[in-house]
Amino acid sequence: MASFDLIVLGGGPAGYTGAIRAAQLGLNTAIIDKGDVLGGTCLNIGCIPSKALLLSSDHLHFARHKAARHGLIFENVSLDLTQMMKRKDSVVRQLTQGLEFLMKKNKITRLFGIGQVVAPGKVILTKKDGSQEELQGKHVVLATGSVPAELPNILIDRQSVVTSDEALSFAQVPSELVVVGAGAIGLELGSVWSRLGAKVTIIEFLPRIAAFFDPDVTQTLQKALEADGIKFLLETTVTSVALSNGKATVEGMNKAKEKLQLGADKVLIAVGRKPYLEGAVTKDLGLKLTDRGRVAVDERYRTNVPELYAIGDIIEGPMLAHKAEDEGVACIERMAGKAGHVNYDAIPNVIYTNPEVAGVGLTEDLARQKGIAVKIGKFPFVVNGRALANDQSQGFVKILADPRTDKLLGAQIIGFGASELLPEAVTVLEFGGSAEDVGKTVHAHPTMSEAVKEAALAVSNQAFSIPPVPQGPRPAAVAPER
Ligand code: NAI
Repeated sequence: MASFDLIVLGGGPAGYTGAIRAAQLGLNTAIIDKGDVLGGTCLNIGCIPSKALLLSSDHLHFARHKAARHGLIFENVSLDLTQMMKRKDSVVRQLTQGLEFLMKKNKITRLFGIGQVVAPGKVILTKKDGSQEELQGKHVVLATGSVPAELPNILIDRQSVVTSDEALSFAQVPSELVVVGAGAIGLELGSVWSRLGAKVTIIEFLPRIAAFFDPDVTQTLQKALEADGIKFLLETTVTSVALSNGKATVEGMNKAKEKLQLGADKVLIAVGRKPYLEGAVTKDLGLKLTDRGRVAVDERYRTNVPELYAIGDIIEGPMLAHKAEDEGVACIERMAGKAGHVNYDAIPNVIYTNPEVAGVGLTEDLARQKGIAVKIGKFPFVVNGRALANDQSQGFVKILADPRTDKLLGAQIIGFGASELLPEAVTVLEFGGSAEDVGKTVHAHPTMSEAVKEAALAVSNQAFSIPPVPQGPRPAAVAPER
């Protein structure tokens, strides 16, 4: 029987990062994944392929709708979707091959098949050919990820009614695409197919899109996406999807109880994801789940089963690749007696639309709900020189700080490259720095990052490029506890 210090079940961002950290710390490590390649959802059917398509489709959109104002005349611009998909697939291939190399380099045993924990420290590996092998692990980590959530009464046939798995590889541009759910997946993939020529309608049951950001941010995003041709139906619930001759009819109801009926050739269900544990543990093991159906863990990622740990999408918290990666590292470091740590108050969240939306820490909405007083500094890109030169002047930076200490509490950015501008705020938040720390740091000119500096200065009415708008501390709904 093969025996290891550590067996990791699942080769996504949580699993492969944990396995590499374990190998670095000298643990004899094995990683099991049922797929032919490592990388999990993020690399294969999530973050990476969607970013490849977002860029390609944005180029097409630029050529068709924006290039002329730069004096660039593209005639007969057309789409070769097969080539676009090929490029996306080659990006994915390069990264997944890179991961196999990393496993070899770190002397991690790569095992193919389905791993099942049958007893503490005991894993049965079932290979593709049906043969089984028993493995022994001093520690076992579950990192089996998540799959798209479904809606009751709506059959996902993976042809007409699809999840993000399929919507990353349509062979043709749908003429009409209905997206259910205006979260990260719905907005990103809705953007891709809208730019490629589909008529896209996004249905969302909440009163606003991307509801985890503040309303001023989401309203700006909605307007920008509407200007690019996406239609939104808010406060609307989808009740059924009927299929006939490869065409779908989506039925729903809005807040005013008015019925709606929409025809579509593809319907993308993007209403969240659910933890995936199928076959990973036996019932007899008695693995404890939380009320929300995630694996229950303590602060060291230990489950109720001895020496069995869980990380990533299967435990509580946002289902984000970077959260999963950091849990992989922290879990292994704590297992090895080191001080691994994830700061759950400083996990960035990004939607890679155009404009991008990125946020970290406290939002104004959350501050109001929790009765926390905040001071807010906002700065628009429309007066930022680089943004204007870049023809990317939509959006703004919003910084939230403690009115008493000026400690930075949160940041949201909507604008071109927001994902790359946010980390400055994440770092300052992590280090417990102040808005003034950002405002008094030299930022290269001309860069869009100057808008981050100016928003930080605007917290104390010191912004340079716009007349300061006096804001003062915003009244909290409840007096802050201090
Ligand atoms: P989500 O939870 O972000 O958004 C789902 C949306 O669907 C919500 O706004 C919800 O109100 C709405 N919804 C739910 N049921 C509905 C119904 N019956 N009718 C209409 N609307 C309904 O989930 P999403 O976008 O599917 O993403 C899944 C996970 O993957 C999330 O945790 C997300 O953070 C992560 N992800 C992150 C990305 C990123 O960081 N850029 C990209 C893609 C996914």
